Amino acid sequence: MRAMTLEDVDAVLAIEQAVQAYPWTRGNFIDALGHGYVCRVDAEELVAGHPEDGGEIRGFAVLMPVLDEAELLNIGVAAGQQRKGLGRAMLREMLDVAHKMKMRRVFLEVRASNAAALALYRSSGFGKLGVRRDYYQNASGSEDAITMVCELKQEATLPHAGVWPGERANG
Ligand SMILES: CC(C)(COP(=O)(O)OP(=O)(O)OC[C@H]1O[C@@H](n2cnc3c(N)ncnc32)[C@H](O)[C@@H]1OP(=O)(O)O)[C@@H](O)C(=O)NCCC(=O)NCCS
Repeated sequence: MRAMTLEDVDAVLAIEQAVQAYPWTRGNFIDALGHGYVCRVDAEELVAGHPEDGGEIRGFAVLMPVLDEAELLNIGVAAGQQRKGLGRAMLREMLDVAHKMKMRRVFLEVRASNAAALALYRSSGFGKLGVRRDYYQNASGSEDAITMVCELKQEATLPHAGVWPGERANG
């Protein structure tokens, strides 16, 4: 994955509009970039010597860091590229980024009806935290949001190099 730029927003928005019934707007993506959130895209390999080939964006993810916690705000894979492991790989990479930024945990919200995303999150280390009743708009009125969290293990930092007799190391 590479950093998303303003030039990518058209392609990212096209994916978002194709795969989400209630998509983010162009302004949402521009704001995310402007706020310095971790915005990444997965793009096809460029073909050496053929600058016109490759480079097509297949997916994206947006992570909002707040102090030592983060929230996965959005993730999407182009319709024709789904079920090939891209979503799992992008999520893994966003969790790695959060870990490297010393985040302790990553939260997210997902529609209760979004079976694909729920299965992806559950099998990628997220556990259910709670339910926000009628949080999302849908065709029949509203639906619940499931809130989830993935705890990231940060190495305990000891105040000094060794462990003194009578003290126990964390973890
Ligand atoms: C959710 C999403 C990002 C998954 O991306 P993907 O590249 O298709 O996912 P992967 O191929 O990496 O699959 C990972 C796991 O997700 C689950 N999954 C993905 N698509 C699924 C589907 N259609 N039905 C059920 N489970 C599905 C499976 O558990 C899968 O693991 P498996 O292949 O070992 O069974 C993609 O479906 C998407 O873009 N959806 C629309 C946008 C969206 O809902 N975003 C999440 C908002 S909270």
